[in-house]
Amino acid sequence: MRDTDLTTDELVGIANLLLVAGHETTANMLALGTFALLEHPAELEKLRADPELVENAVEELLRYLSIISAGVSRHAREDVEIGGVTVRAGETVVVSVPAVNRDERQYDDPHALLLDRPRGHHVAFGHGIHQCLGQQLARVEMAVGFTELLRRLPALELAVPAHEVPLRTDMSIYGVHRLPVTW
Ligand code: HEM
Repeated sequence: MRDTDLTTDELVGIANLLLVAGHETTANMLALGTFALLEHPAELEKLRADPELVENAVEELLRYLSIISAGVSRHAREDVEIGGVTVRAGETVVVSVPAVNRDERQYDDPHALLLDRPRGHHVAFGHGIHQCLGQQLARVEMAVGFTELLRRLPALELAVPAHEVPLRTDMSIYGVHRLPVTW
């Protein structure tokens, strides 16, 4: 074995990371995104009327839902000043994804879901060299998923009142535990 080869443990670790990071996230974005669309009928109608809006809709849902709600962390390798605060070498900073994605200095009416809002930068996939490795795959999965769901199930609606949908407030990746629907 060359010393650049990965060990079995490292390979298993990478495979596990890809499986969890790639499945939990997109599965929850699809379910929570569907819930958000059903709860915003005027926005859903915009997407039904113009399926080409889907790529914009995916970016807006990513921004609005910010499912990595616990945030992304960075570890300071040297003292650094951010926003007037000194972060010392060795300290960890957790960046709140929902707070950045709903920053009123970046977005007009940031708490509104507007599928046709001009596409702006968001940090739902993180930022910098560690930003999400699977983001383009995730975008395709969501664009195809939402498009086909709405096309094949035109009468899709919630089967329970919205407040009875169990939300994943107890999990690190936000979403729904179940989404009962009829079609
Ligand atoms: C809607 C779906 C997804 C969301 C919202 C999401 C979000 C994120 C976020 C916020 C990070 C942290 C980035 C940072 O620290 O700057 C991340 C990292 C990562 N994601 Fe995703 N992700 C999604 C889908 C996927 C998919 C489909 C895969 C793989 C097939 C994947 C693999 C990874 C990996 C391996 C990392 C670690 C990258 C690194 O540390 O260099 N993700 N993701």
